[in-house]
Amino acid sequence: MNYASNSTKALSILDLIAMKQAGEKISCLTAYDASFSALIDKVGVDVLLIGDSLGMVIQGQSTTVPVTIEDMVYHSRCVTRARNRAFVMADLPFLSYTSKTIAIENAAKLIQQGGAQMVKLEGARFEVIEFLVEQGIPVCGHLGLLPQSINQLGAYKVKGKQQQEADKIISDAKKIEQAGATLLVLECVPAALAKKISLALTIPVIGIGAGVDCDGQVLVLYDMLGLGTGKRPRFTHNFMADAQSIEGAVECYHQAVKKSLFPTLSQSYK
Ligand code: KIV
Repeated sequence: MNYASNSTKALSILDLIAMKQAGEKISCLTAYDASFSALIDKVGVDVLLIGDSLGMVIQGQSTTVPVTIEDMVYHSRCVTRARNRAFVMADLPFLSYTSKTIAIENAAKLIQQGGAQMVKLEGARFEVIEFLVEQGIPVCGHLGLLPQSINQLGAYKVKGKQQQEADKIISDAKKIEQAGATLLVLECVPAALAKKISLALTIPVIGIGAGVDCDGQVLVLYDMLGLGTGKRPRFTHNFMADAQSIEGAVECYHQAVKKSLFPTLSQSYK
């Protein structure tokens, strides 16, 4: 069965798990407003992520740290109003899941007011994940580079190059699955490590800067449209370069992910 059909039935987490089991790659893009949500959805991209990257690409902040839950709910509403088929997940922003109680309040806002089907949170927060899942909220974990921790990290760098760090990421990924998360984003890790994790987990692993062997790929929409003036990270690609329109660029990205043509080796880390 090809889950990337033109069906307008909204995808569920079960469809994404079935895609992993069938070896079909999952395409994902960030979206922050209704117009792009409708366009990306029409192309057939499987997952829309309302990422807290909106702090940088929409609000012009230098990091994702200032993004609030109100920002996330507002943009989630904009996105979910316009989509028909794509599965939608939204980021819990920095400091919005410091305890189980705070996490459930904020996750509820994204699900009930924002219309998201899943929330994503950064780091090895097993207890919070377990609690949200117990309350019926689907959770996506996020390991590797954790942008919300930029003030601790000091710089955006590849994670898991050293064996000890790689072992910790593998162990955390397994514990996140055991805690009940049903999706995992891996950001900026060596391709071989991401492959190992994708094979070890039964839940789908979506990579960004994590090589071609993940179960799916995500990019920040504005990066793949070639917008932005700074130095582009090696894992992004300007899909507008060979396309005649924004819709064409999104279609090229979607097809490249489905056919495992993106990312290439030179767009991955060793
Ligand atoms: O906020 C975001 O856009 C993300 C992706 C980079 C995965 O979390």
